Amino acid sequence: RAAPLSGLCWVCLLLKSKCCCVLCGLGDLGVRSYGQLESKDIFIAVKTTRKYHKSRLELLIQTWVSQAKQQTYIFTDGEDKELQLSAGVNLINTNCSAAHTRQALCCKMSVEYDKFIESQKKWFCHVDDDNYVILPSLLKLLSSYHHSQDVYLGRPMMDRSVMVSVRFWFATGGAGFCISRGLALKMSPWASLGNFISTAEKIRLPDDCTIGYIIEALLEVTLTHTHLFHSHLENLQKLPTDTVLDQVTLSYGGFENTRNVVGLVGGFSLTEDPTRFKTVHCLLYPDTYWCPKLKGGHRH
Ligand SMILES: *[C@@H]1O[C@H](CO)[C@@H](O)[C@H](O)[C@H]1NC(C)=O
Repeated sequence: RAAPLSGLCWVCLLLKSKCCCVLCGLGDLGVRSYGQLESKDIFIAVKTTRKYHKSRLELLIQTWVSQAKQQTYIFTDGEDKELQLSAGVNLINTNCSAAHTRQALCCKMSVEYDKFIESQKKWFCHVDDDNYVILPSLLKLLSSYHHSQDVYLGRPMMDRSVMVSVRFWFATGGAGFCISRGLALKMSPWASLGNFISTAEKIRLPDDCTIGYIIEALLEVTLTHTHLFHSHLENLQKLPTDTVLDQVTLSYGGFENTRNVVGLVGGFSLTEDPTRFKTVHCLLYPDTYWCPKLKGGHRH
């Protein structure tokens, strides 16, 4: 009796028919959901460097990282016992060079990959130290895929693919990207235990590009393009303010304009919160002790 019912479910998933899904016993599925994904199932790697611990990392620890301390791993290149003890975060000294070179960045990505594999978690997500991760949106996005499938999610770099000897897309690291455990395990011959560094050396491309090369060119798995991830390379002012909290990652600053931030207004002025990360955080978690309390007990 199970077979025709599961066939029916398959059809209903395709049609996204709500009543049919209820009939199948799958419950109310507005979108396809594999359910049960919890934030502890996600491994979030933050790439930073010693000189940005104060100016960039402390803001992240004060905001979104405070909501995800157990599953966030900060990959840096220098000791900082003080920060580790005071903030209680997972700070990993990669022992990679602090230079902003392709080799040093690939060295860090290689350590991130190995630590993720070791962690047994379901999803690997990489972000930079100028990204805000909107955790509820990340959880919602990843819930519509299964970690045992081949999933590579991110914002395509400059909306174009790269030509090496093959053509492939890659997700820009500055906006963050996620990889399912199933796919990460398949990457192992080119990514684990230092192999990532030799793969990157072979093609002479940056870390995020090498990830794209392994997945798209070698494993023939396509990047799922999403525009919910944002880097400082785009004009963040253009993001409609009523959609900011639905995004997965945000960023600030950039090469052209230090005032390149999301246009959210809230309890903090631009001087008090130049990145707008505190403003975003207080809209998401208004009960945070340092968030301004709005008059009359009303929020938003
Ligand atoms: C970096 O070096 C220290 C000291 O030798 C060592 O304890 C640590 O495990 C190394 N980190 C990594 C990621 O290999």
